[in-house]
Parts: sequence; C-alpha cells; structure tokens
Amino acid sequence: MSELTERPRRLRTTAAMRRMVAETRLHPADLILPAFVREGIAEPAPIGTMPGVVQHTRDSLRKAAATAAEAGIAGIMLFGVPEEAKKDAIGSPGTDPDGILQRALRDVRAEVGEELVIMSDLCLDEVTDHGHCGVLDERGRVDNDATLERYAEMAVVQAEAGAQVLGPSGMMDGQVGHVRRALDAAGHQDVALLAYTAKYASAFYGPFREAVNSSLKGDRKTYQQDPANGREALRELELDLAEGADMVMVKPGLPYLDVLRRVADVVTVPVAAYQISGEYAMVEAAAEKGWIDRDRAIEETLTAFKRAGADMILTYWATEFAGRLGRRA
Ligand code: PBG
Repeated sequence: MSELTERPRRLRTTAAMRRMVAETRLHPADLILPAFVREGIAEPAPIGTMPGVVQHTRDSLRKAAATAAEAGIAGIMLFGVPEEAKKDAIGSPGTDPDGILQRALRDVRAEVGEELVIMSDLCLDEVTDHGHCGVLDERGRVDNDATLERYAEMAVVQAEAGAQVLGPSGMMDGQVGHVRRALDAAGHQDVALLAYTAKYASAFYGPFREAVNSSLKGDRKTYQQDPANGREALRELELDLAEGADMVMVKPGLPYLDVLRRVADVVTVPVAAYQISGEYAMVEAAAEKGWIDRDRAIEETLTAFKRAGADMILTYWATEFAGRLGRRA
C-alpha cells in the first residue's frame, strides 16, 4: 500500500470535476475580433498566409460584425486597406474622412450600434507607400514627433467616424498622451485608448503584412521593442499610464506571456493580449498538415492568455471560438 495521501489527480478524474476546479474560464466577452477591410474589391479576398481570414469588402465586414455581435464577443478592431494608388508618404487615407477605415467604422456602427465595442487601429503603416508606422525625415528615418501630429489628426477622424476605442500601435514615444490631448481638444473625452504598451519587433507579424498589403521593406526595430527586453515593457507601461492609457496591451501573445504576466501583476487598468497573425498561421498550418488538433490548440492558447493575466484577447478566432463556447454543455 502506498503512503500517498496527497493525490492531485483526484481533481482530474472526470470532465465535470476538471471543469469545477478550473482556475481559468473563457467567455465570449473576453474576445475581440481584428478584421481587415479593403477598398475597391467586389468580393472578400482570402489572405493566403491566414487561411480562414479575409480582407473584407465593406459589405462582408458589416456581416462579419453582425455575426460577431450575435456570438456575444466584446468588440471588433478594424484595420483599413486603402487602394494602392492612394497610399503616400504621409498616409493621407488615414486622415481622409472618406478613407476606407473611416467608412468601415461608420458601416459597422450602423450595423451593430453599441452591441460591440468598435475599435480602430491608429497607425500609419497601412496607409503609407513606404509601409512604416510613421512619417520619414529627410534621411529616411521614422520621425517620432512629426508622426505624433499625424496620429493626432487620425485619432479625431476615427473618433468622428464612430470608433469608441483607438489602438495606437505605432510605438512612437508620447503617442498616448498626444492622441489623448487631441481627442479631448476635439470634444472626444469619451473615446478610450487601448495602448499598445509592449509591442515587440516580431517575426510573427509576417502574415499581417499580406493582410494589409504592406509596402514595408526592412523592419521596425527602431521603434518596436527588442524581444530580448522584459523590464523595458514596464517602463513603456509607466509612460502609457502617465499619458492616460485606459487599457494596455501586450503583443505578440504566446512568445510574450512572461511580459503579459508582469504587466498584469502591476496594473489597475484592463489588460489585453493580441494573438497575432503568425500565431494564428502556425496553428492553422500545423493543423492542416494533421500535426496538431486544431480545436484543442486554439482553446489551449486562449486559455494560456487568460491564465497569464489577460482580461481581453484579440484573436482571429474570436467569433468562431465564441460560438464554440456557446455550444458547450
Ligand atoms: C501596425 C500593426 C501590426 C499589427 C497590428 N497593428 C503590424 C506591425 O506592427 O508590423 C500586427 C497584427 C498581426 O500580426 O496580427 N499597424
């Protein structure tokens, strides 16, 4: 006879037992769907590197938003892809009230009203012909302070189009404070900022570049964080909070769960994690080859984000996964 009295396995004996003692639960309201809308296309365009994700037409985006609302997810984060010929050095489509992102914001607002939190990406990379997240100086470097002026203008235009939460994702110094002041000055005190607090220069953004038809050559290492740094995320966090961030985000997701945990442990604002394009693509590709169980892998990754401290998860599986949660006994 064994002397064992402590047997943790007792609490793992049945599915009902495991469910009862689970420390982490996912709910549709934890999930935010990132969605792409492309100008000038008649049919949704599949994104080869992200099987199952499309560049929406304005019409198919409205439908996707309605389905997302139906599934009970928290929100939708919109990325606009302008016609190639409209991109320029300063990202003019980003401040045009009739730019694709602004039109899409109005469409989604008309479709779902306040049923979903409507969010928009506040960045220049989708709208510049050089693909950087800012404007360039005469030597071709990303000019921080000149970029802030562009973000300020974009923020007001997006707020006027109906965005309730803006996600400044360019990693310019001072972007949260600058955008906050611009919004307030324009009477948009109620528009919230989801700060991309710790955003790393990651190889896992690869598929996103196709998703937004990015023109980028080179990399973003002079503005996004070095993957080697964890403590630096806390410095970015202090600055974002001091500048008025309403919520903070860590991105990418799985390779940075330690950063997510460190951030979640010290803040008093909600924390989001972004499961990015390359993370999505890895699971889909391995599943397609029959190398992993797709549904289990998705659930496990989303659970990991919550366990590591995320209140909200941006994931391309948001609507699908919410549907699955709803069906669970
Ligand atoms: C910048 C932005 C990027 C992503 C979201 N916002 C790309 C980048 O920083 O290079 C990536 C999202 C993803 O990979 O799913 N506007």
